[in-house]
Amino acid sequence: MYSLARSLLFRLDAETAHGVALKGLDLAGRMGLAARIAGETVDDPVELMGLRFPNRVGLAAGLDKNADHLDALGALGFGFVEVGTVTPRPQSGNPTPRLFRLPEAGAIINRMGFNNAGVDHLVARVRASRFEGVVGINIGKNLTTPVERAVDDYLACLEKVHAHAHYITVNISSPNTPGLRNLQFGEHLDGLLSALRERGVRLDGDSGRRVPLAVKIAPDMDDEEVGLVSQCLSANDIDAVIATNTTVSREAVAGLEHADEQGGLSGRPVFEPSNRVIRELRRRLPEMPIIGVGGIDSGETARAKREAGADLVQLYSGFIYRGPGLVGECARALSEVT
Ligand SMILES: Cc1cc2nc3c(=O)[nH]c(=O)nc-3n(C[C@H](O)[C@H](O)[C@H](O)COP(=O)(O)O)c2cc1C
Repeated sequence: MYSLARSLLFRLDAETAHGVALKGLDLAGRMGLAARIAGETVDDPVELMGLRFPNRVGLAAGLDKNADHLDALGALGFGFVEVGTVTPRPQSGNPTPRLFRLPEAGAIINRMGFNNAGVDHLVARVRASRFEGVVGINIGKNLTTPVERAVDDYLACLEKVHAHAHYITVNISSPNTPGLRNLQFGEHLDGLLSALRERGVRLDGDSGRRVPLAVKIAPDMDDEEVGLVSQCLSANDIDAVIATNTTVSREAVAGLEHADEQGGLSGRPVFEPSNRVIRELRRRLPEMPIIGVGGIDSGETARAKREAGADLVQLYSGFIYRGPGLVGECARALSEVT
């Protein structure tokens, strides 16, 4: 069924198709058809970060930036749904076109630039949702906030989302906000993570509810850089790492239509680069929960992500190309791994 929907959707430009598909999903959800679209949901519970995930397959950040579609997406059999990236104030993101499909490579290039309706809107939507599963909220900084003041934006978001998130992701790896990726290194990283950890501990104490902090990193790092990040994550008692975001490399898609568009490349070409980062993280952080994301488009690739060292996985581009059936396929494949 999805292949028919996809052939119609793929005639539209990528961002219009995205909006139409999400509206269609909302409608299907309201008509009680979500379960039929999802197929049989997979019950393969796992405890991680003090949370109970119904299965190991989540939706990656960026598809539902404002939590406007949480009920519909949550009904598709995901073990968890990550919404955002959200920033303190609403912002429109980069000019369109800013989203491109590269079907020959099973890939997408995006330079959305954190278009979102702001943290207050997202919080209201999460509160209004009836989804009872695990919700991660992914936070970032506004474009107009200088990188030296980035910590203020992350703290403002942390304060507002803490009461409504099962876990919070600190996104420092989008290539579409100038300077953001610098936060992955050295004193910037330590300063940001220690401030967030300190505020998180206070909020946990005040609310009597511990909300784990995850950090999302880029695939464009060598092993030594992954090592430095790893040290900083453990020094600041971070609960999990999400690897990875999109890549700025174009090696795997050179010559294809849209390959030279600016932005982050996702899908099949990022599968191996993110597995390399996951393997290195696992080697350096044997105990830390890792959420593996990048290029999963089948049960087999989900299993490979797990073999690289991921405890949980997330889908984005594969979900666009393969549709909701991919969720159950991956969750089943992972439930069969001992
Ligand atoms: C259109 C688009 C928008 C995205 N927006 C975000 C975002 O706002 N925050 C974030 O952390 N990651 C974002 N991502 C990255 C994905 O969450 C994921 O890390 C990346 O695409 C690799 O996974 P994939 O190969 O399965 O797509 C976005 C990806 C795409 C394709």
